[in-house]
Amino acid sequence: MMVAIPELDGAIWPMTFGGRSNTSSPGDEGDMCEHAERAAMLAARVARIVRLRRKQRAERNIAVVLFNFPPNAGNVGTAAYLAVFESLFNTLHGLAEAGYDVELPASVDDLRERILGGNSAMFGTPANVAARMPVDSHVRHQRWLDEIEGQWGPAPGKLQTDGASLFVLGLQLGRVFVGIQPAFGYEGDPMRLLFEKGFAPTHAFCAFYRWINQEFGADAVLHFGTHGALEFMPGKQAGLSGKCWPDRLIGDLPNFYLYASNNPSEGMIAKRRAGASLISYLTPPVAHAGLYRGLIDLKATLDRWRSLEPDADACQRDALAELIQAQALTVDLAKPEPAWTGQATETINRLTTALLELEYTLIPDGMHVVGKPPTADQRHAMLDAAGVAPGPERVRLDGLMAADSEIPAIIHALDAGYTRPAPGGDLLRTTEVLPSGRNLHGFDPFRIPSAFAVQDGARQADRLLERYQQDSASLPETVAMVLWGTDNLKTEGGPIAQALWLMGAAPRADSYGRICGAHLIPLETLGRPRVDVVITLSGIFRDLLPMQTKLLAEAAFFAASADEPVEQNFVRKHALAFQAANGGSLEDAALRVFGNADGAYGANVNELVGSGAWNDEDELGDAFVKRKGFAYGISGKPARHDAVLAHALSGVDIAYQNLDSVELGVTTVDHYFDTLGGISRAVRKARGGTKAAVYIGDQTRGDGKVRSIAEQVSLETRTRSLNPKWYEALLTHGYEGVREIESQVTNTLGWSATTGEVDPWVYEKLSETFVLDPIMRERLAALNPTASVKIANRLIEAHERKYWSPGAAVLDALRKAGEELEDRLEGILPNGRVLEAAA
Ligand code: BEZ
Ligand code: MG
Repeated sequence: MMVAIPELDGAIWPMTFGGRSNTSSPGDEGDMCEHAERAAMLAARVARIVRLRRKQRAERNIAVVLFNFPPNAGNVGTAAYLAVFESLFNTLHGLAEAGYDVELPASVDDLRERILGGNSAMFGTPANVAARMPVDSHVRHQRWLDEIEGQWGPAPGKLQTDGASLFVLGLQLGRVFVGIQPAFGYEGDPMRLLFEKGFAPTHAFCAFYRWINQEFGADAVLHFGTHGALEFMPGKQAGLSGKCWPDRLIGDLPNFYLYASNNPSEGMIAKRRAGASLISYLTPPVAHAGLYRGLIDLKATLDRWRSLEPDADACQRDALAELIQAQALTVDLAKPEPAWTGQATETINRLTTALLELEYTLIPDGMHVVGKPPTADQRHAMLDAAGVAPGPERVRLDGLMAADSEIPAIIHALDAGYTRPAPGGDLLRTTEVLPSGRNLHGFDPFRIPSAFAVQDGARQADRLLERYQQDSASLPETVAMVLWGTDNLKTEGGPIAQALWLMGAAPRADSYGRICGAHLIPLETLGRPRVDVVITLSGIFRDLLPMQTKLLAEAAFFAASADEPVEQNFVRKHALAFQAANGGSLEDAALRVFGNADGAYGANVNELVGSGAWNDEDELGDAFVKRKGFAYGISGKPARHDAVLAHALSGVDIAYQNLDSVELGVTTVDHYFDTLGGISRAVRKARGGTKAAVYIGDQTRGDGKVRSIAEQVSLETRTRSLNPKWYEALLTHGYEGVREIESQVTNTLGWSATTGEVDPWVYEKLSETFVLDPIMRERLAALNPTASVKIANRLIEAHERKYWSPGAAVLDALRKAGEELEDRLEGILPNGRVLEAAA
């Protein structure tokens, strides 16, 4: 309440500075008292903001921080939806025009080259070395040296160092320093300690923030794009103490954070844990996927089929049906057998519907550039997609998008001005995200799930049950649901309401109308058995929605306790069965909400897949259970209950997650296969090797649609990965565009690894499009050689892991292409730049 509600008004940097002391201490009345260290820190922070405001712009030192997240060569300087270097270039110009002392690079390429290239060859670093901090200076000034050394060994550790000094990567441009945030430091050992309790950031990471603050003497820091690692360092979720790493690292330095307007959930973490004032940026324009290559030919033939006269003769119909099948086969939309005849009307109608879905699916159109508003065409496309009718409102919104509000917002924020609050969300759902350049906030926690979400959640959950009944002719007994913060924030708690509805429960409100718990809907009203639900939460959900976490646990407990026949109540059925076999309390047997340990995030499945450091697919399921196996009961305190979880997973019929925004597909980021893929694999093991059905509830548009994971990956492959409209738009941004294509390929492999549900043609066509086509291969290699090698290697890895089996000739060509790219990379520096001689 003290954190989330003030955010609605644009409040920043929530801090604890006192409290009521423990009444059990002798002689203590439980009076309010200050916390001296926190109060001093609060005062220091206010003083820094005042100092920033008083200083002349030309005198201010500004640190801009770019990311290397996830940490990998070829990722340096990338951020979600953002063309980082173009945006940075425009921002530097904006700062110069506003009177800052900034040395302007000649061009975007010059800027990128000086940051990623520069002297990096000399040092073997992924970017230019801007400063070298001697080890003894680090040792002398680093307050938490003991803890860092406990984790990473004696200073300077192994990362970003030559043994004598720690490297600060970046580029100084007058009084603006553009720095590269050091990597987390788990490379080569991804299972290790990432986000674990007691974990400390690397020497290089700590040195970076100390350097910015004390040696560069920054008056403010601007974190540039969604998102980096600072705010995910270990510590409390809110009301941080001086022992929490994000708090230690940022200290009293005013922190501004350029953040994607559609990601309020992770934005809240940056706000609450790292004291960031967010400055929102718009997500890329969207466009209809449209059709390309073979799909266009197929559509033309389908049009001819539709216009056939009713009395057309059988020969004519057969010939056309045969052509349609042949064309559909080339785009992997049909099987060669059995042959279609003129009687195949129903099949052909289904194909027509599938093609329409491909054509009208919305996809992102390139990347966002700060300081470069979308064109008139792009604005129209976005307003159409958002369903804004012609009229004054449309003109107002168009005007808000046409004007750049982001660079002015950065300038205003750096003057220590008040940044107005804005709801976060997708433009297509919530036009209130306009204008961008505002401080994103979350929601009122007492209204989640909202009345609308409860209604819509029931509809979506029914749709899932319907789909499963179509596929399996039965009602599922258990659904494994993945809940994230983002999807719930954007839909006022839709997925929470779905989970409740499956169990036959609803939120309960107190006399003020504030949500305070759950209640059961009577079985007569529900009209079907209560479905058991095993919920796994993202760390972000756990951070943002503690009350809702308890509410879900309470619903499961109430269901398990209800005096109802077990064939009408699968929660009770399974809880009683567990108790009969294992003993213990019903409260424990009814634990259904699982997540990370306090202060930890992620399932690590994405790290494993990214690094390739795994052998058997079951290792991925094991990683998931290890990370996500903490039960959140009605007390709200997490504890391991492995036996309960294993029992619950062994009965899962469906693994399910919602998809909430057009910008992000299940193959766009590695988090979907980390969570939904991870649990699917864990279920398979718990079921002794039998797969459960895996579904996606796509609620990005209209009423929503349930797809199998195979259907969803195919749809995204066709509308995005293989679609020239998608990849050409990305490639106009060069380096960052190639890296997006590379993630798409890696994430596709992630789905094969976790679910085995990716059709082999996906890999065939990805290979043809990005590696075997010499012109495309050359283009990608020139723009981002590291990422382009990864694409080739990932496709070969997919073959080695038996996710597809290319013919000998294709495999040979792929290997040759991979080797050719590797050879080029021999002459390439870790930052991805090609040496003159090798180029
Ligand atoms: C979340 O909102 O819960 C979330 C966002 C990004 C990745 C994973 C989870
Ligand atoms: Mg993230």
